Amino acid sequence: MHHLKSDQFYFMNVMVLGSGGREHAFAYAISKSSLLSKLYIAPGNPGTAQCGINVDIASNNFEKLSNFLAQNHVNLLVVGPEQPLVEGIRDYLEKDSRLAELKIIGPGKQGAQLEGSKSFSKTFMEKHDIPTAKYKEVTDQNIEEGEAFIDEQTLPIVLKADGLAAGKGVLIVNSKAEAKIELNNILNGKFGTAGNKVIIEEYLQGLEFSIFVLTDGNTYKVLPIAKDYKRIGEADTGLNTGGMGAVSPVPVVAGKLMFQIVENIIEPTIKGLQKDEIPYQGFIYFGLMSTQNGPYVLEYNIRLGDPETQVVLPRIESDFLELLASCGNGTLDAQRIKTNEGFAVTVVCASEGYPQTYEKGKTIEGLNEVTNSIVFQAGTIKENEQIKTNGGRVLAVTSLGSTLQEALSTSYQSINQLCFEGIYYRKDIGYEFKDNVVF
Ligand code: AMP
Ligand code: GLY
Repeated sequence: MHHLKSDQFYFMNVMVLGSGGREHAFAYAISKSSLLSKLYIAPGNPGTAQCGINVDIASNNFEKLSNFLAQNHVNLLVVGPEQPLVEGIRDYLEKDSRLAELKIIGPGKQGAQLEGSKSFSKTFMEKHDIPTAKYKEVTDQNIEEGEAFIDEQTLPIVLKADGLAAGKGVLIVNSKAEAKIELNNILNGKFGTAGNKVIIEEYLQGLEFSIFVLTDGNTYKVLPIAKDYKRIGEADTGLNTGGMGAVSPVPVVAGKLMFQIVENIIEPTIKGLQKDEIPYQGFIYFGLMSTQNGPYVLEYNIRLGDPETQVVLPRIESDFLELLASCGNGTLDAQRIKTNEGFAVTVVCASEGYPQTYEKGKTIEGLNEVTNSIVFQAGTIKENEQIKTNGGRVLAVTSLGSTLQEALSTSYQSINQLCFEGIYYRKDIGYEFKDNVVF
């Protein structure tokens, strides 16, 4: 039963699909909406259980999910991770006549190729004149061409598996000989079938950051700008991770640079999707590099970032569910996003050993003591009334502040109240911007 709230919106039953820190941040933002009736998270985590009802459905079990959505009159589904989108969850649910009224935030299989296939996204960018690194696409049919392209490049050289590889499919190598060996390794299955095609790319130098856009296919809204910290070690050293922290806004991304991003990247992407007749309702994540020649696209993702979401959503002061609902209804144009003027930071607390092997099952103490930050849960599990670690990235501790320094101090003070065996976090999140805290 849905009750009329205003001319345009009803109280809604909403489901968030996924189980990480990003999904906790979604659930947190949606739970504050005045338009919410019931919130479900599938499968969720102990953090999301504080915002709504966790439902034990894996995000790749489309059949079980569609039954639940129909039986519980869910009006809006927000898909957190990329995998179900690339596997066609939207197309599957759209075929179900019981779900004719369901709005889905996330593209269909065709649009999902922007992330699901680097070959697709590079071709798309080339076609629509969107600045991106020069590249060569290689399969086992044209290895010699790939090796010749490697010979023409300056070092380092970037190699990317075409398909989804759980964030591990990109190699940056420092010699041509190594590039040729890795090219063959990827084609021979180093990243499984994701590497049946390889993109060899020119290396771009500059500041890396992300822009997130919500689009209903007609128009788009730019969400707060964020930067994540991908490496495990301080000063961006060591292995790549899913992300060890994030800040928003990014102090240098403004003025002319922002204008170039809108004109040369965002607009041609939205128009390109329209020209190619690819319907798209959902988020587009632009992974960008600001170079001496202007901003370039490193990659598209078809979802929000983790842990960027944990700083982007806390800065949105408008009703987030209303924004999502208007995206689903195709009326996004009428929305204005009100953003917090200050800074948000998040610091990820990980298990010792991550991103390689680590132990699970460590009791997390202090969660109830933190009052000045929001503790988003990621790799956690509830056992015998205790919250325990259950993954590599365990918590993301988000704080707001009128300066970057203030937000950072709050998060680090909150982390001092938290404790689990082997807790590891970077102490230098936001380091490049600390001297430049006034935006
Ligand atoms: P991707 O999955 O394409 O974003 O690549 C993962 C990471 O590799 C990016 O976040 C960048 O740090 C780096 N990277 C990817 N492509 C390039 C490039 N062409 N030049 C320099 N760094 C890159
Ligand atoms: N933090 C990077 C990502 O979500 O892909």
